[in-house]
Amino acid sequence: MGDHQDMLEESRQGEALALNASNGMQEGKKLYIESYGCQMNFSDSEIVASVLGNEGYTTTTNMEEADLIFLNTCSIRDKAEETVRKKLNTIKHNPKKKETVKVGVLGCMAERLKGKLLEEEKLVDLVAGPDSYRKLPELVDDVEDGQKAVNVLLSREETYDDIEPVRINSNGITAFVSIMRGCDNMCTFCVVPFTRGRERSRNAASIVEECKDLYKKGYKEVTLLGQNVDSYRWSDDPELRGRALKEAPRDEVIDFAKLLIMVAEIAPDLRVRFSTSHPKDIIDEVLFAIRDYKNICNYIHLPAQSGNTRILKKMNRTYTREWYNDKVARIKEVIPNCAISTDIITGFCSETDEEHADTVDLMKQVRYELAYMFFYSERPGTLAQKKYEDDVPEDTKKARLKEIIDIQTGINKELNEAEIGKSYEVLVEGVSKRNENDLRGRNSQNKMIIFPKENYKVGDYVMVKIEKSTSATLIGKATDLVTY
Ligand code: SAH
Ligand code: SF4
Ligand code: F3S
Repeated sequence: MGDHQDMLEESRQGEALALNASNGMQEGKKLYIESYGCQMNFSDSEIVASVLGNEGYTTTTNMEEADLIFLNTCSIRDKAEETVRKKLNTIKHNPKKKETVKVGVLGCMAERLKGKLLEEEKLVDLVAGPDSYRKLPELVDDVEDGQKAVNVLLSREETYDDIEPVRINSNGITAFVSIMRGCDNMCTFCVVPFTRGRERSRNAASIVEECKDLYKKGYKEVTLLGQNVDSYRWSDDPELRGRALKEAPRDEVIDFAKLLIMVAEIAPDLRVRFSTSHPKDIIDEVLFAIRDYKNICNYIHLPAQSGNTRILKKMNRTYTREWYNDKVARIKEVIPNCAISTDIITGFCSETDEEHADTVDLMKQVRYELAYMFFYSERPGTLAQKKYEDDVPEDTKKARLKEIIDIQTGINKELNEAEIGKSYEVLVEGVSKRNENDLRGRNSQNKMIIFPKENYKVGDYVMVKIEKSTSATLIGKATDLVTY
């Protein structure tokens, strides 16, 4: 499907990344951990590094010196699982790895395939699902004693709220903070409810503490993470927690809008982002918070999945095309310069050419700042797999995908051209990958902006005037340092 889609997929799902954390210990055993999939998996790897850090493990980016190799895996599409299988085979056949090395599969594939991963291919010693990371020290002990270890129990409570993540591959400026786990939505195509379990929110005070701590350490941006952040709900009253929390009136609980404000009030120069919003759950109060707090970024990831109401119903997204359009209109009304991005699936079960044309039309109408696009991949155990035939031929799925990628590339180019001459406040995240004399950062709308370094540095807020553009990047020149 071409490099462009691969690139998009990488930027969305995060390139598989070897972690390099230092927890202050010089000696002891070495952990090599690679993360696949969504930001939540990357965030979980920081929990894993913390749990094993307490056992004396330091992390390494060199697989060959590792005593433990962990792959934190994703099951969202067949291709994601295939990548991990290939990697497991490469590890098995790497002659330079330590003879005593143990290999573990963590995350969503571990949860989906459970013990099968141990039996099938003899590539793996340890299997740990997303809710079992506290148990890793015991599982690793078992493995060191020559046994195989599996723990794939899902939990209704686990949020790892008391575990301080070990920040990995960090730029020291932006960090992810998990605010909830699991998903109760049951979109018919999606494996996440099965691999991540029931939705549960993390203690609000612990979220705010973690963000304050990051700010004290010099971080300037936090991204609050969850599969469905707008259904975040917390109460300090244990009676209210559990299922009752969903039905409780807003004024009795801390909901997502209140949490956003609590985090935004930590400091005016701590930016707040969040992902992902389900269109059915984002409410006016969240939009008002974005409007009223300058440091809550003007960017909403609002996956549509399809532009056709019959397909949306079949996907169990619970909104119609019109309802989605009204939501977009409301966002633009409350926050006129809010960027909106989306996820789209082409070729879902029984999708016709006309229904696909509705998706094309939605994309042309909304003109998303960014779109992550996929062709449908049937996942075992999902409702769609059980109820519907995966009957759109692969060629058609891919042709439809190519069509929307081309359209979106054109839209991105036009939107970026229209940015020339405008000025934005940019938080500098690092040095440009292409040119060490340039800095790179984002504006509130999450658009990457490159500009000559001059005397500015990483972590600064800088006003930048846009001079040039490509379909992916804006290029400009700094005009002022912004002080808080
Ligand atoms: N919780 C997020 C989505 C997480 S998965 C949300 O509701 O928006 C990220 C994206 O992967 C989804 O939005 C969807 O577009 C895509 N996806 C999920 N399951 C898929 C499947 N079976 N085939 C193709 N794409 C899929
Ligand atoms: Fe999957 Fe839907 Fe939950 Fe997103 S909201 S994780 S697409 S079930
Ligand atoms: Fe993949 Fe699991 Fe995230 S399936 S997208 S790693 S929740």
